[in-house]
Amino acid sequence: MRRHLLALILATAAIPAFAQSGSAGWGVEPSTVANSQSRPISFASRAADDGVLVILMRDANLPDGVLSAATEANVKAAIANARFDGQDGSKLTLRGIGRHARIDLVGMGGEGDVTDRLRRAGGRIAQDVRDEAHAVSIVGAASDEAAAIALGYSLGQYRFDRYKTVGKSAPSAQPATIVVADVRRAEAEWKSRGAALAEGVTLTRDLSTEPANVIYPESFVARVREAFAGVQGVKIDVLDEAAMRRLGMGTLTGVGQGSRRPPRLMVIDYRGGSGAPVALVGKGITFDSGGISIKPNAGMWEMKSDMAGAAATVGAVLSLAKSHANVNVLAVAALAENMPGGNAQRPGDVVRTFSGKTIEVMNTDAEGRLVLADANEYVIANFRPAALVNIATLTGAVGNALGYEYAGLFSRDDALAAQLSTAGKVAGEDVWRLPLHPNHAKTMKSDIADIKNSAEGGKPGASLGATFIGFFVDPATPWAHLDIAGVNWADSSDDLTPKGASGWGVRILDEFVRNWKR
Ligand code: BES
Ligand code: MN
Ligand code: ZN
Repeated sequence: MRRHLLALILATAAIPAFAQSGSAGWGVEPSTVANSQSRPISFASRAADDGVLVILMRDANLPDGVLSAATEANVKAAIANARFDGQDGSKLTLRGIGRHARIDLVGMGGEGDVTDRLRRAGGRIAQDVRDEAHAVSIVGAASDEAAAIALGYSLGQYRFDRYKTVGKSAPSAQPATIVVADVRRAEAEWKSRGAALAEGVTLTRDLSTEPANVIYPESFVARVREAFAGVQGVKIDVLDEAAMRRLGMGTLTGVGQGSRRPPRLMVIDYRGGSGAPVALVGKGITFDSGGISIKPNAGMWEMKSDMAGAAATVGAVLSLAKSHANVNVLAVAALAENMPGGNAQRPGDVVRTFSGKTIEVMNTDAEGRLVLADANEYVIANFRPAALVNIATLTGAVGNALGYEYAGLFSRDDALAAQLSTAGKVAGEDVWRLPLHPNHAKTMKSDIADIKNSAEGGKPGASLGATFIGFFVDPATPWAHLDIAGVNWADSSDDLTPKGASGWGVRILDEFVRNWKR
C-alpha cells in the first residue's frame, strides 16, 4: 500500500508544472512524437557519382569541371533539346544518365540579388528532392555561395508532421551535400551563422504551428527554455500572473483572465556586446478567440498562431545567441490566451497598465495591443533599451493593405525605419512603411479613460493599432512596430516557406540587430 502511494507521488511529480494532465476538463494532448528526420546538410569538394545530382545553372552553360566527360555530353544534349536557359525558377529533370538516379538542372540566372536567388534555389531543391530516397549532391556554387544555398535548403525542407500517425510519408534523411572548392570556408560560414538562423526560424515555425492545446503561455515558456538550454550569455526571466498583478500590469492580466491558462511575461536577455540592449517585444497570444467580442468561426483555428510575433523574437535571439553575435538584445514574449468565460474581461471595462495609464477596452478582440502596452512599459522601465521593436500579428487590416508580400512597418524614427527596411531587403523579408498621423491618436481618444483600444469603424486599422502601441512607448525611446498579420501564415508553399507558419521576422530581426546603430 505504502509503495503504491509512493509510486503515485512520484508519478505526479514527474508531470511538469505546465502539463494539462490532471486538471479536470483539460482534455488529452496528441502524442508528441518528434517530427520526421530531415536531410542533414554537409559540404564536400567532390560530388558523388551516383544518387541525385543537382546542378545550379545561371544560363544554358554547364559549370566547368563538375561532370565526367560522358555525363557532360549527355546533359548538354538534354539542355539543347529542352531549350533550357537556366533562368531563375526554370528546372529540368533528367533520369538514366550515368550512375545517377536523377540529375536536376536548377535555374537561378537573371537579375536581382544573387544571395536571394541562391537561397531560393536551395529551398526549391530541398522541396524537389524531398521524396528521393538517395543522397543529394549540389554542384555549381562558388565557395562563398554555399552558405546561402544551405540556408535556403534548411528553410525549404521544413516540415511539421509530428502528429501524423497514419499515412506519414517521411522525407528522406540521406544527406544533401553542397560541393565547393573551399570546403572549410563554406562550412565555417554556415556554422558561424546560417545554421543558427535556420534553427531560430524552425523554432518560430514550430511554436506557431503547434495547436493551442499544446502551446499556451506556460508551455511556450517551457519549450523556449528547452531551446535555449546550454546557450551561452543568456538569462531568462519569467513573470507569472501573481507577479504581474503585484506590478500593476492590468492589460496582460486582463487579456489572460478569461482563460484557464494563466498569462506570462518572458524576457530572454542575451549579452554578447556592449551598451543598452535592443528590445524585441512580441505579441504572444497563444489563442485569440476574440474573447467576449468573439470571432466568427471561419478561419478561427489560425488564431493558434497569434503568438507568431513573440515566437519571432525568441527565434531571432536564439539565432543571435547561438552564433555568438556581438550584440545585446532582449526577446520579450507577452503571453496570454484570449478566451471568453465567466471571468473574461468585457467590452467597456477599464484597465490600467504597468505605468498607471488607463484604457477603455472597447473590443476584447483588440487584445494584442493591450498585452504589448504592459510589455513595452515594463521593458522600458526595467531595461532602458536603446531601441524597441514590436512585432505582432496585430490587425487583419495590414493583410488587406500589403498581402503576403510585405509586413507593415510603423515608426516615429526615420533612421530606425530605414535600418529595418534595409535589414528586410538583405534578409529577404520585406517591409513597407505605413503612416502614423496625429489624427489617428484623436480617433483613439476615450470618453472616460486615457485611450480606447479600438475605434468603431476606424478605417486605417493597422495605423490605429500602431498608434495605440506607440502611446505606451516613451517618446525618447527609438521605437518601431512590425505588423505581421499578413505574412506570418503562408496559404501556399513558396521556395523558402512550405505552406503554414512562415516564421516571418526571425531573419529581418537577426539582420537588424547585428547592424543596428544609433
Ligand atoms: N489576431 C488578430 C489579427 C489577425 C487577423 C491576425 C487575421 C492574423 C490574421 C487581432 O487580435 C485582431 O483581432 N484584430 C482586430 C482588431 C480590431 C478588433 C480593432 C482586427 O484586425 O479585426
Ligand atoms: Mn484579436
Ligand atoms: Zn490577436
